[in-house]
Amino acid sequence: MANKKENYVSKQELVKNNEEKEIKNKKKIKEKDVSSKNIILSIKNASYRYSDAEEDDYALRDVSFDFESGKMYAIRGRSGTGKTTLLSLISGLEKCTEGEIIFDGKSLKDMNLDKYRNSDIGIVFQSYNLLPFMTASENIILSMDANGLKIKNKKEKAIELMEKVGLKETYANRKVLRLSGGEQQRVAIARSLSYNPKMIIADEPTGNLDKQTETEILEIFKKLAHEENKCVIIVTHSGNVCDTVDVIYDLKKVNDKEISK
Ligand SMILES: Nc1ncnc2c1ncn2[C@@H]1O[C@H](COP(=O)(O)OP(=O)(O)O)[C@@H](O)[C@H]1O
Ligand SMILES: [Mg+2]
Repeated sequence: MANKKENYVSKQELVKNNEEKEIKNKKKIKEKDVSSKNIILSIKNASYRYSDAEEDDYALRDVSFDFESGKMYAIRGRSGTGKTTLLSLISGLEKCTEGEIIFDGKSLKDMNLDKYRNSDIGIVFQSYNLLPFMTASENIILSMDANGLKIKNKKEKAIELMEKVGLKETYANRKVLRLSGGEQQRVAIARSLSYNPKMIIADEPTGNLDKQTETEILEIFKKLAHEENKCVIIVTHSGNVCDTVDVIYDLKKVNDKEISK
């Protein structure tokens, strides 16, 4: 009798062991899937409420997006849908109220965010944010210095970065206030590349530019993603941007019935 029972238990265990093996295998395959997808940044159920907002007044609610290296993304949404807030979370300037953001396998909660901002991500703004009375190359060198980069010939490096965004060497010594909007945005992109970040995030980077110049700037971002394996994330409501990117994520107003997907 006792034997029979033992026998029965061991069979049950066998089934359990097999089930566990199967689950482990499935997990391994899933993990492989994720790594083969090359995800560099993952937003997991992120919600954000500003400290002065009312208890239920969220700027973002339950947003989950994945971003891969080598791809260009648009985050699209009408005014007030939380695009800038989301970029603040991605760039580590604000912390999620709920949920989390994983960069390169690590939660931003456990990272040195100054180091993250100074080495892993480059930020490009709609209004370029350059110092107008300094030259193009001085603006780029300033960023190298601010980030503590140890480069022998900084000017040479700045010129190299400017060439990458289609600006000839002669532009290096020109004051920013003597450059067109498109040229200024090129300098700003070159500046964001000075420490070779894995990700570039841009808040309406072509919002002040005409369509032709916008197309040229988008080509630069596209090249950075497809040829240099960077992850490029652009917040926008421009149709031209959305036509250029590989993936579009839509943000909806929190109060709309349909939550951001
Ligand atoms: N500093 C702040 N304090 C309180 N509420 C804010 C602040 N900044 C933005 N918001 C609110 O958060 C929501 C999302 O804003 P924002 O991220 O700027 O949207 P978008 O960039 O898509 O226009 C809006 O309702 C806005 O009023
Ligand atoms: Mg905004």
